[in-house]
Amino acid sequence: MILRSVILLVAFCSLANQANGSPATNTNKQLVVYWGQDSAGSLRLTLEKGLDYYCKNYDYDIIPVAFLNVFFDTANKDKFPGINLANHCNTTFKGYPTLLNCTDIGQQIQTCQKSGKKILLSLGGAAGLYYFSSSSQATQFASTVWKLFLDGTSKIRPFHNAVLDGVDLDIEGGTTTYYADFVKAIRQLMNTDKNRKYFITGAPQCPYPDAIMGPGGTNMVLTTVPQEFDYLFVQFYNNYCSIDKTKFFNQSIASWFNFAMTTKQKYGKGPLIFIGLPASPRVNGYQSPDVVRKAWQTVKTNESLGGFMLWDASFDMNNVISGQHYSTIIRTIMNDQYKSIHHSVTDFFYVIRVRGDGNFFTRVHVSHALLLGLFLVVFVLLLAVMMRMSRHEKLLSVKSQEVKVSGDKKYVPLGFY
Ligand SMILES: *[C@@H]1O[C@H](CO)[C@@H](O)[C@H](O)[C@H]1NC(C)=O
Ligand SMILES: *[C@@H]1O[C@H](CO)[C@@H](O)[C@H](O)[C@H]1NC(C)=O
Ligand SMILES: *[C@@H]1O[C@H](CO)[C@@H](O)[C@H](O)[C@H]1NC(C)=O
Ligand SMILES: *[C@@H]1O[C@H](CO)[C@@H](O)[C@H](O)[C@H]1NC(C)=O
Repeated sequence: MILRSVILLVAFCSLANQANGSPATNTNKQLVVYWGQDSAGSLRLTLEKGLDYYCKNYDYDIIPVAFLNVFFDTANKDKFPGINLANHCNTTFKGYPTLLNCTDIGQQIQTCQKSGKKILLSLGGAAGLYYFSSSSQATQFASTVWKLFLDGTSKIRPFHNAVLDGVDLDIEGGTTTYYADFVKAIRQLMNTDKNRKYFITGAPQCPYPDAIMGPGGTNMVLTTVPQEFDYLFVQFYNNYCSIDKTKFFNQSIASWFNFAMTTKQKYGKGPLIFIGLPASPRVNGYQSPDVVRKAWQTVKTNESLGGFMLWDASFDMNNVISGQHYSTIIRTIMNDQYKSIHHSVTDFFYVIRVRGDGNFFTRVHVSHALLLGLFLVVFVLLLAVMMRMSRHEKLLSVKSQEVKVSGDKKYVPLGFY
């Protein structure tokens, strides 16, 4: 009896869990999401919420905070870096107009870390001003990042007491040189703190090798110190190698896997590869869950695969498919529990949703039955109109023949085709 109640309770809990849209994780694969740029905000969707909101309500494992986008900002005292967090923090330190003072976010980072999330600082981004002009400058920058964001000490700490779990290099512009010096220096500092495991990650583009990070050129960071990277969040979007282009995707992912594997063989350690996807239909390279599942099936057994990365939290929040956030569906795919969620009639609406704003059908919770009803009514109406038209057309064609006889050629047939 007790056993049965327990079984029932467990069954109930797992059902409730499914209804919540957060199935238990049963693989060691991880889900990464960028937070801080509020990409949805610029498209007038719902604004990105605070970091702690996502740690509490979403099933992410690693969250890079984006971005530290200026390495040496002459507007700041001591040429301290500039950070940009879109709508999230609007107070700065006196004398450092682009260095944000975000006590609240600092507390949220600590809350997130207590629940097991890894919070990284992402350096670079698509817009910013960053490069190193010498090896010593790169080493000095590592020391600044250590003091401002990691376990070092400084009066100026944008996230106060919070010690971030590492740094992410999202280098999409500038020069290729001296990043290896930065990585070596920051890894050395990380090794001085025995209480914590720190992460160094990168976000190259899917074409292999990456134009800036490599591997390839003699001074590129992935050529020189590939073994110092824990994870690579490869961006499979805005490029020809998105995961639906299977030929190019196959080539790209095989190259990245091979890079990870050979690094591990050579150094005894190396990066895991993550498949980076946009979380919004508005971004070039977005993939429906069915396409993601197909790609997953072809790569999931590779020991170099780390999981998925999503750009970004705000897009994920705005992308609800059949009541589930995109990231929740990605998690079910990684757990091999995904069942295709779009059926015949709703497929039609799904296409509209994917092509358009992505909001109407997700905000208005129209039940599938209602959609089907609507569809049938429209169909019957259309049929009725067409039947009337064809009768009308017959009449017209009789008339036009009459006109032809009189030599007047003004008749223009109706344009149904
Ligand atoms: C700064 O952020 C706070 C908290 O989010 C907000 O209440 C305030 O209106 C913002 N101030 C400005 C000038 O944007
Ligand atoms: C940073 O902001 C907090 C309030 O959020 C304030 O108490 C503190 O004095 C500020 N720090 C500096 C150095 O300006
Ligand atoms: C890509 O790889 C998968 C699995 O290895 C394979 O089934 C598929 O045919 C490949 N596609 C192309 C276009 O090469
Ligand atoms: C992982 O990918 C690499 C590179 O394509 C390949 O050599 C290796 O066999 C793959 N491993 C598995 C288990 O599929």
